[in-house]
Amino acid sequence: MNSDIAEVLFSREEINQKVQELAQKIDHEYGDKEIVTIGILRGAIFFMADILRAFKVKLVMDVMSVSSYGEKDITSSGQVKILNDIMINIKDRDVLIIEDIIDTGLTLYHVKRHLLDRGANSVKICTLLDKPSNRKFKVGSDYNGFIIPNEFVVGYGLGYDNRYRNLDYIGILKPEIYQN
Ligand code: IMP
Ligand code: MG
Repeated sequence: MNSDIAEVLFSREEINQKVQELAQKIDHEYGDKEIVTIGILRGAIFFMADILRAFKVKLVMDVMSVSSYGEKDITSSGQVKILNDIMINIKDRDVLIIEDIIDTGLTLYHVKRHLLDRGANSVKICTLLDKPSNRKFKVGSDYNGFIIPNEFVVGYGLGYDNRYRNLDYIGILKPEIYQN
């Protein structure tokens, strides 16, 4: 285990299992419809890669890059910047946002509104992790993998200062890493 990690929350096997469960549930709900999946970079990169390959539902894939953190922050700046917007037309399409984690809800609140403004027929949210105790915006995840406590976690795409994203498990980062 990486020495900057205080505790492993979910192993690669547990994550894989959860990804399969989420994919089955979403396949079932959309049936024969074709959806547009929009992965939110960079945090959702591995989750997106895995769940997209687990889906049987027909889909068109796009990504968006948004940022609400400075590089070395562990809390949101309160502003969401769209760094790279989607490329495809989503008018009248059924959109599924793929995101690593919902925390205050700021990011997903804005992304969802942005996609509805673009004329999507429906916008649903799929997250791997949810920290409900920290929610400040009125938005929820329609399909969530794990509920976690209010701790800063890294791995499987989630990063701090863009480090730890490549860990193949999800763990709690030792506070001393960001407290100096
Ligand atoms: P929100 O806008 O406060 O809901 O935060 C969502 C975004 O903050 C996510 O897309 C992540 O990129 C990031 N984030 C929130 N909590 C964590 C965490 O514990 N570890 C790493 N990134 C996080
Ligand atoms: Mg993110």
